[in-house]
Amino acid sequence: MSSVPKKDMKEMITQYEQQNSRRVSEDPWRCGFHLMPVVGWLNDPNGLCHFKGEYHIFFQYAPMFPSDSLKAWGHYSGKDLLHLQYEGAAILPDTAYDQDGAYSGTALVEDGKMYLFYTGNVKRDGDYDYILSGRESNTMLISSEDGINFSEKKCILDNGDYPPDYSCHIRDPKVWRENGRHYLALGGRTKKDKGTVLLYQSVKPGDFEYWELVNEITTEDTFGYMWECPDFFRLNGKMVLSVCPQGLEAEETRFQNVYQSGWFLPEGDIGGEYRLETFTEWDMGFDFYAPQTFVDDKGRTILIGWAGVPDAGFEEPTVERGWVHLLTVPRELTERNGKIYQWPVAELDQMRGEKRNVPEGVWTANPGGRFDWIIQNSKRADFEVWISEELKIAYSGGHVTMEFTGDMGAGRTVRKAECHNLNQMRILADSSILEVYINGGELVMTTRIFPKDMDYKVMLVVNCLVPDTINNSLWYL
Ligand code: FRU
Repeated sequence: MSSVPKKDMKEMITQYEQQNSRRVSEDPWRCGFHLMPVVGWLNDPNGLCHFKGEYHIFFQYAPMFPSDSLKAWGHYSGKDLLHLQYEGAAILPDTAYDQDGAYSGTALVEDGKMYLFYTGNVKRDGDYDYILSGRESNTMLISSEDGINFSEKKCILDNGDYPPDYSCHIRDPKVWRENGRHYLALGGRTKKDKGTVLLYQSVKPGDFEYWELVNEITTEDTFGYMWECPDFFRLNGKMVLSVCPQGLEAEETRFQNVYQSGWFLPEGDIGGEYRLETFTEWDMGFDFYAPQTFVDDKGRTILIGWAGVPDAGFEEPTVERGWVHLLTVPRELTERNGKIYQWPVAELDQMRGEKRNVPEGVWTANPGGRFDWIIQNSKRADFEVWISEELKIAYSGGHVTMEFTGDMGAGRTVRKAECHNLNQMRILADSSILEVYINGGELVMTTRIFPKDMDYKVMLVVNCLVPDTINNSLWYL
């Protein structure tokens, strides 16, 4: 695609989508209520917002993957989160500022306009150092009156504007308004390989073109060499910083994927003196990264993540079927006593059809591979859930484990998280993805699964002699 004249790019993508989306849609591993690319590759959610009565969900999109991995933004929109329409490619890498990728970014809705901020990626060919000088990272701005047609692109920050002690890895703007001022956060990597967030403030209130650096947000000791996709937002009045650190050492019950994604509750003032202490991962499963939040018209703070991880070394089996990756369901966030809970937005309950109780210890059919299963465990008994003979989710000895029985390669065997007093587990299954919410969403584990048989059976095994310890309800979706 890079060699195609830029003006023809949109047309070429549309044509390619028309020619290939039918074949892709016939894949039994396609999902029913998760957002996927119509063809090709998807990664981070981008530009999430509620604008003029509609939800807008953009995403990193490489339609012609694997033959071309150049990133554009794809776009879904709709009046509610259950009925989202694909709107085509929205931001194309078609200028000198973003020729090697319209990378991730966010939306700001203000004065009847949607503003999108993103990273224009430009790779430098030749004898450049990959970390220090191999790319230009342009912070770009476009706006829209209707969410579909966009203004000319403007570059508002470029490599010359970033601090001199930084590598060329600076990206993924988040912009928000607080106390009448606008802030812009960028994820970064210093020349000393420390992950940080650069915090800018608009020079004049209401002006998005001029920004001054006000702070560098990071931990005291190095916590990963690079922080991608920063997001600042308030929950229950408290400031939250969500980031994706790269380069953390794996531990037995933490940091088990190649890159991490989680949150801090910064203490103090992020514009001045602050401290970042505890980092909590958003999701302890195999497939989660680069989440983004937004507030909708009902005042809900909603998070959507990419159900995938970059550089994980796992070749998704859907690639040969013409598509790869998807987004998680929208999760409403709430905060209680310093903990953040994630819960599928309530409107997803409307999908529930026939309800049944899964009897213990016997395989139960699961037509179509789509269900919402809530297991109540009032006496905190140890139990196991089996998804065919392929995946076991077990609560035992103060841990939850998610374990594949076969060898999928790339370290996709087991994920283990600490969990004491498991009183509830909800499994949302959609053909080739499972999202597991524990204790009201205090702990979440997401995984892709590629079952041989799409009507995969499920089984519940309770390891407790006391009768009636566990009740469950499973709805077909
Ligand atoms: C995170 C990320 C971002 C970047 C985008 C490119 O997955 O690497 O940092 O903007 O993906 O697709």
